[in-house]
Amino acid sequence: MKASKARERLRAGFASLPPYDERVDDAAVEDVLTEVADRLHDNYPYFHPLYAGQMLKPPHPVARLAYELALWINPNNHALDGGRASSAMEKEAVADLAHMIGWDTHLGHLCGGGTMANLEALWVAGQLNPGKTVLASTQAHYTHRRIAGVLGLPFDTVPCDRWGRMEVPALERRLAAGDVGTVVATLGTTATGAVDPLAPMLDLRERYDFRVHADAAYGGYFALVSDLAPETRAAFDRLRDVASIVIDPHKHGLQPYGCGCVIFRDPSVAGLYRHDSPYTYYTSSELHLGEISLECSRPGAAAVALWATQRLFPLVRDGAFAKRLTAGRAAAALLYDKIRGDRRFVTGTPPELDILVWAPRAARVTEASAQSRRIFDQTAQRGLHLAIASLPVHLIDVGDMQRDNDMIICLRSVLMKPEHREWADRIWAILDEATRAVLGNR
Ligand SMILES: Cc1ncc(COP(=O)(O)O)c(C=O)c1O
Repeated sequence: MKASKARERLRAGFASLPPYDERVDDAAVEDVLTEVADRLHDNYPYFHPLYAGQMLKPPHPVARLAYELALWINPNNHALDGGRASSAMEKEAVADLAHMIGWDTHLGHLCGGGTMANLEALWVAGQLNPGKTVLASTQAHYTHRRIAGVLGLPFDTVPCDRWGRMEVPALERRLAAGDVGTVVATLGTTATGAVDPLAPMLDLRERYDFRVHADAAYGGYFALVSDLAPETRAAFDRLRDVASIVIDPHKHGLQPYGCGCVIFRDPSVAGLYRHDSPYTYYTSSELHLGEISLECSRPGAAAVALWATQRLFPLVRDGAFAKRLTAGRAAAALLYDKIRGDRRFVTGTPPELDILVWAPRAARVTEASAQSRRIFDQTAQRGLHLAIASLPVHLIDVGDMQRDNDMIICLRSVLMKPEHREWADRIWAILDEATRAVLGNR
């Protein structure tokens, strides 16, 4: 198919080189690959719509094929010496992401994932506000506390409201107490997809001096979707005013793992990265991505795959790519309505993005937690793969359940594939059957 045509075209560009021996033992490779295929059966079917558990979705075919094509070169985007074309493609792809946020100028690059990207953003923040505290909400990803530890920066949390969003009055009180250098706003929390109220958080800078970093590792691409709740949309509209942002193309951007992205609004932070390399940077005086990145060697293939994907799906507001996100949201809304309307369950507030959490109704919170686990097992036995999340009870409308624990174990579903919209009824039918198996026909 087209992939082999593209490979021939790539090879043709190097046809003037003298031939060399590149034989492989095809039969031996085939044997090993057969074994690999068998080993890989030991996985949940992440690619299928009935996998509706964690943040996992298959890379788009164009990303896989472009990645594989690039592997024939195996470029290294540390330096232009290691990957000229792929470095240029990375700069273009990242510029498109910056543009999506509303930035015409920026500094940014791809990296291993959300953790590396946030590490870099907080490293820059720590250089600019040395020794000052990093704040994030209690629902922010645990990586921020760990990163602050690695960087030797103090870390503190700010409570969340029942939507799982950072409480702005509590943030203000903490800012007033002093010594805060950076506030992390999460746009799309890992557990429930909650979006912190970025606008009032940013407005606090009129009274307090701090830097805002947006962890939009999960939710960043929803900037392209108009049809969000007004307060959610308002947060995305203010993304252009943050100092730095993290978006993970390997979450919602249809990329294979190993593709995170950090972008700074002020390109002059490049000065903080300044270093000499005795080994690289000699073939060109243009910017080598390693000069503005903490990681050295990085897969150029990841940049090629992202570039190709964005070529197929330009990052256009409400365009074809955004519609895929909207379909996942519609699936989450549909399932939320069914679960909310069913007395057997308790839920939280409606999903802001495409993540849904709920629990069975029981006499006590600990009983509901135990039943969540059993329903999780029962759905898996019927081919539907959900996830489990332990959440503060105040995020769930538990009604008159006895609150014998501060945390409730919930069922969680990340409906991030567009196909989930078509499969929502089937997912509900399996959940219904699995719930009957656990709770009986009440
Ligand atoms: C909001 C958020 N930040 C950071 C991370 C960490 O990203 P990664 O797993 O790519 O390192 C995640 C992962 O789920 C996330 O959801």
